[in-house]
Amino acid sequence: MRRMNGKAVFAVLSGIVLSLLFLSPAKAADNVKPVRVGLALPTQQEERWIREMEMITEAGKAVGLEVRSQISRNDQNDQNRQIDLLLKDGIKVLILAPHDGAAAASAVKKAKDAGVWVIAYDRMIMGPDVNVYLSFDNVKIGELQGEYLTKLVPQGRYVLMSGAPTDDNARLFKEGAMHFIQPLISRGDIEVVVDHPVVDWQPSNARKIVENALMLAENKIDAVLAPNDGTASGAITALEAQGLAGKIPVSGMDAELTAAQRIVQGTQTFTIFKDTRDLSKKAVEIALMMVKGEDFLTLAGGATMKNDVKDVPAVLLPAHLVDRNNLDALLIDSGYLKKEDVYQ
Ligand code: BGC
Repeated sequence: MRRMNGKAVFAVLSGIVLSLLFLSPAKAADNVKPVRVGLALPTQQEERWIREMEMITEAGKAVGLEVRSQISRNDQNDQNRQIDLLLKDGIKVLILAPHDGAAAASAVKKAKDAGVWVIAYDRMIMGPDVNVYLSFDNVKIGELQGEYLTKLVPQGRYVLMSGAPTDDNARLFKEGAMHFIQPLISRGDIEVVVDHPVVDWQPSNARKIVENALMLAENKIDAVLAPNDGTASGAITALEAQGLAGKIPVSGMDAELTAAQRIVQGTQTFTIFKDTRDLSKKAVEIALMMVKGEDFLTLAGGATMKNDVKDVPAVLLPAHLVDRNNLDALLIDSGYLKKEDVYQ
């Protein structure tokens, strides 16, 4: 018989343990510790990551996985230390949304050396040690942003912002948006006032970029590409100071509560709804398949996403554009946000 490697042996044993849990929960709970899964998220500053921490923990519990979570302060040294702690806790799967996709690679290698499965959660990890990438179709999201803005403002002066350079998603969103914006720049219909990344996705940086653009253009700006709702909030604060909020289209992404409120008030034009409830459930489903030794790659159905060393099997969920017209249907009727919170 071929010798099984550590991971295969582990998968078989975990499968037995999990089967015991499922077949006889009360009895198994007395004897068997639930399998531990580590969750490492990049920042507490945005609504989505906090929500996902809760959802993943709950969904894990429901299927007998104990989720240990850590959330960093937008800092990779901090996050790498947190990953070390998770590894010491004996996790079998690491679900990681890295702060810095490249600088996370060393911590991920340690996980891999310890026989831990690695899920690149929403953000890509640069390095060979990723088993699967679970995210949304991020180029498509950028296309939705670029298409909507250019339909609304086919000619004029644009402020272009992209997300954190340490986050591969930022590149993908911008790439998608430029599929629509670049042809109009080349034709001379769109003039770019500034084109700037937002370090660490910080709203305060976005605000400075837009303040600077307003100064350069003497307030003559026609559209702002803000890659997410946090950067949109910074941009809108800068516009408000000049009495321009609500007069200049601003994009966004994440369907945060405050963004939905701004859409209703008319200061933000649209956001992108990525149903993080589905993403969280899918992460737990994959983690469970990993520990049970099941073929989670079937979920990718052959789709892959390049990081800088390999084609990583990719599970990509759909996303939807939300503006004033479909906000109630997409965000409120689906239960993602509460009506009384959005319209307070
Ligand atoms: C995510 C966005 C989020 C941003 C800042 C990106 O990787 O795709 O949803 O707004 O990070 O946290």
